[in-house]
Amino acid sequence: MEFKINGGKPLSGSVKIESAKNSVLPIMAGAVLTDREIIIENCPKISDVFAMSKILRHAGKSVEFCEENLIIKPCEREYVKDVNFSQEIASSVRTSVLMLGALSAKYKRAKIPYPGGCDFGGRPIDIHIGALQSLGAKIREDDGFIICDEPVKGGKTVLPFPSVGATENIILSAVIAKGESIIVNAAKEPEIVDLAAFLNKIGAKIYGAGTSIIRIEGVKGLCGGAFRPSADRIEAGTYLIAAAITGGEIELIGASAENISALLFKLCDNTCKFKIKNDIIYLHSGKRKKAFDITTGPFPMFPTDLQAQMSALAAVSSGKSRISDEVFKNRFYHIAELEKMGAKVTLRGNVATFDGVLRLHGATVGAHDLRCGAALVLAGLNAEGTTIVRDIKHLERGYYAMDKKLTALGADIVRA
Ligand code: EPZ
Repeated sequence: MEFKINGGKPLSGSVKIESAKNSVLPIMAGAVLTDREIIIENCPKISDVFAMSKILRHAGKSVEFCEENLIIKPCEREYVKDVNFSQEIASSVRTSVLMLGALSAKYKRAKIPYPGGCDFGGRPIDIHIGALQSLGAKIREDDGFIICDEPVKGGKTVLPFPSVGATENIILSAVIAKGESIIVNAAKEPEIVDLAAFLNKIGAKIYGAGTSIIRIEGVKGLCGGAFRPSADRIEAGTYLIAAAITGGEIELIGASAENISALLFKLCDNTCKFKIKNDIIYLHSGKRKKAFDITTGPFPMFPTDLQAQMSALAAVSSGKSRISDEVFKNRFYHIAELEKMGAKVTLRGNVATFDGVLRLHGATVGAHDLRCGAALVLAGLNAEGTTIVRDIKHLERGYYAMDKKLTALGADIVRA
């Protein structure tokens, strides 16, 4: 599948933001910890959610959409003995790794294939394994599987890097474990806050989510309930940059400004005007952007998941822009594709330097990964002529109905 885009139309209108993909996925893993019904509200119908649904079905759950909500409930009354799912399913989504913490907590053991997710040249899980082992879990790797023979017993673990996934895996492993677990140097992303809020709503005792020290008191069991995760800050940021790169205006409905403050500061320094009221963000963009510098980092620094999209904007911002990714140092597959569209850019290690051009030109380009695909769509919205973005299956892992939402904003884009 591909997108065909005729660029040059300033966006204008409103767009509804879905619940955050990177909150929904760990919450789905958390649903394994309880035998009661879980409802995830405003859930995006994206392929990563479908992949995690397949994994949960192997764990004895029924997972169905009911309008905008995802309903997860036990479908097999008898005790689920061996939960296993294929390497193919596991490798389609990064958060399959979170089943290590969830299944080992629930069934006292787990055996999972290696996870997948976007390929930026390696997605190691050493921090996950080291942290779980430091909390008493017995974990070994065997023939392409990660096997947990004994669950977490509690204690304190210090993360060498505030890994989002590792923080989530520890929380999932500790919520119904014996004793108390403490994470030092925990990730502070809004998606961690969402996961903790969901688990606390169904009976967990997690304190400090959103700070670098998280404490989890193990409880005997969890109940059921409904939860609405926060808006997807990366989807929201992507549409704000789409308005900026086309010199248009946009109203985001259901977005949280505080979760994308790093982007808002960067854009309002750059000819964009904002109005923020509750969960509505309105942006009016000036025509030509000025050059800017970005260094990505753990929250609340600038998010790596918006780095590629801002690279597209840098390509058409007057002057020299510098973008470095300190989280995923190889996350630059979009650079070569942007060059095909006329971008003037040099990449040295994990630093891309752009000499902004007035406008890009259409080309046929490939979406190597999720946010690379988003960046190329934004570039196509700006470009003169027609842009074909191929391999949009990567993009549709994380963006629900992107072509429909952009068409409603006045873009000329078709899915072919
Ligand atoms: C989560 O990935 C997100 N994915 C990513 O979003 C996001 O880019 C990333 O966090 C950083 O914010 C989901 O939530 C599903 P990390 P995760 O563990 O958990 C290294 C998107 O576009 N590391 O915080 O995998 C790692 O290589 C996706 O929606 C280890 O070395 O990220 C990276 O350099 C892409 N060993 C850094 O830490 C480990 O065991 C941050 O990774 C784990 C991570």
